[in-house]
Amino acid sequence: MSKVTVVGAGNVGATCANVLAVNEVANQVCLIDIKEGLAEGKAMDIMQTARLMNFDTVVEGVTNDYSKTADSDVVIITSGLPRKPGMTREELIGVNAGIVKSVVEQVLKYSPYAILVVVSNPMDTMAYLTKHAFGLPRNRVIGMGGALDSARLQYFLAKALKCNANDVDGFVIGGHGDTTMIPLVSYMTYRGVNVKELLSEEEINNVVKSTMVGGATLTGLLGTSAWMAPGAAAASVAEAVIKDQKKMIPCSVALEGEYGINDLTIGAPCIIGKNGIEHVCELKISDAEMAKLKESEAAVRKTTSVLHEMKLI
Ligand code: 2OP
Repeated sequence: MSKVTVVGAGNVGATCANVLAVNEVANQVCLIDIKEGLAEGKAMDIMQTARLMNFDTVVEGVTNDYSKTADSDVVIITSGLPRKPGMTREELIGVNAGIVKSVVEQVLKYSPYAILVVVSNPMDTMAYLTKHAFGLPRNRVIGMGGALDSARLQYFLAKALKCNANDVDGFVIGGHGDTTMIPLVSYMTYRGVNVKELLSEEEINNVVKSTMVGGATLTGLLGTSAWMAPGAAAASVAEAVIKDQKKMIPCSVALEGEYGINDLTIGAPCIIGKNGIEHVCELKISDAEMAKLKESEAAVRKTTSVLHEMKLI
């Protein structure tokens, strides 16, 4: 038996629960929210597609009763406010940090050994808070930002190459912020061929820029944060854990000297399996990319320092 809890039945949480069910990632999915009836309604709606979509996963919705989340293998935390147009992810820290801390406390009471996947923004800082407020080992706290940003990069890359997104590869490291993420050009490929051989410098720069503001573009179009790709990205991280896939997924991870960074949770390529983050991959990156990573580190560190000012850690 495998069980995944999704905390927060808003757009991202409900989409995530739906992807977990349709892909039969776990036998059981518990969707929990503070708003009376919301999780129950979303779970019922998902379950009414079981015959249509041909899945066996059971999704249960609950209002605020964390005992129902007990013994989860993975818990995905989507709680908190989403972005409004024009807002940065960093601006959400004041409201979301308190919410995330109280959610994690409840979660750990009933699933003390769960792997936690953090989605709430500002995501790198919320992952840092989750790890440090409760003294968790780094393998158990995974920030999902890099999985999402890399999926967006692959979308823009496929559009530029006029090809199928499944034929391209490429990923993003650094912070999950409009100015802090770093799409790695040296690792962008079409079926193993570096895209520098296939696209002009200008086309590659456009892919990089579109990826970096990918979330903000959608927030402008939708009037709130995106949810399809964020929900699916979180589900893909949970799937790698539940199925012990040992997949390389860029995630926000508490670095311990990798890339010259210590005591900070920020995006780097990780091997994800049943123990959560099983390895941090230290790839060769160019001097220019390393310089960008240093800038990203400084920005994420600044946001993360607010947790001390708020006396949350
Ligand atoms: C996104 O990038 C809001 O972080 C979320 O869509």
